[in-house]
Amino acid sequence: MTDNANVYHVPALLNESVDALNIRDNGVYVDATFGGGGHSREILARLNSGAKLVAFDRDGDVLPNLPNDSRFLFVGNNFRFMQNFLRYHGIKKVDGIIADLGVSSHHFDHCERGFSFRFPEAPIDMRMGQQSATMASALLNAASQDKLQQIFCEYGELKQARKIAQTIVAARADKQFQTVGNLIDCLARIIPRHEENQTFPKVFQALRIEVNREMTALKHFLEQTTALLSPKGRLAVISYHSLEDRMVKNFMKTGNTEGQTVKDFYGNEITPFVLITKKAIVPDDGEIRRNSRSRSAKLRTAEKKSCHDE
Ligand SMILES: C[S@@+](CC[C@H](N)C(=O)[O-])C[C@H]1O[C@@H](n2cnc3c(N)ncnc32)[C@H](O)[C@@H]1O
Repeated sequence: MTDNANVYHVPALLNESVDALNIRDNGVYVDATFGGGGHSREILARLNSGAKLVAFDRDGDVLPNLPNDSRFLFVGNNFRFMQNFLRYHGIKKVDGIIADLGVSSHHFDHCERGFSFRFPEAPIDMRMGQQSATMASALLNAASQDKLQQIFCEYGELKQARKIAQTIVAARADKQFQTVGNLIDCLARIIPRHEENQTFPKVFQALRIEVNREMTALKHFLEQTTALLSPKGRLAVISYHSLEDRMVKNFMKTGNTEGQTVKDFYGNEITPFVLITKKAIVPDDGEIRRNSRSRSAKLRTAEKKSCHDE
């Protein structure tokens, strides 16, 4: 393990999630969210010399964390294109897929990325990968009030979504948003001091989800797993907020992200997966004490049925 990877990100639910994959030591696995590589390294430790691990990350900052291992292949791209990249590398089926969603500690701790309200001087960027077209500043300066309200309501689940959108639109008429501090000053006009710690993270989360099209990427990613997984292959997903978790839960239960039950001619429910745990697994008190950023993590796992037709 490199020093850089140690500080880059501390993996959440590490053993629980890799155990959940029920690793076949000669299998083919995907880590859709490489980050600091904690989950990838644990998977590699459980694989033999003929196995393969393909990891994805859309952020080029992860490159110094890549293991030097002939069984490992890195794809520096969005996991929403997972199936195409795997096909390009000659892989049609895999034995397990893990995704540890969202941003890494590196994103929060590197002020120039603009993900954290702790760094007022930082440009308000929030792109996970430099391929993404729009920065959060562009969104704040150009999106309509209705669009901003929808983002804060849907992705931040903020009661004050309308007021926040209104205040942003009024503020940008005087001065365009460039830095995190510009947004904080604007929010401070309407959010009481004692509510800042609850509200600011939700505003930042909402903008980040929109900038990176996180929900669309997750939907496309999940939909590809049905065809990619071999019979009895496992899908393990760690999510960090209720929107992600709802989508993952729906998908694992029904095979579609809307959670619509599909029935056969006889009225029997058809679903590609068997749930490995009915309830999500969450970190215990010890893990939360050691790594407070793991506190909202939820792990869900499903196994591909051996008899499901694609
Ligand atoms: C929570 S971190 C993963 C940490 C990792 N499991 C570890 O042990 O260090 C999430 C990572 O996924 C990446 N990511 C998020 N959404 C992505 C997407 N749609 N495609 C590819 N990578 C993505 C982020 O850049 C970040 O590095």
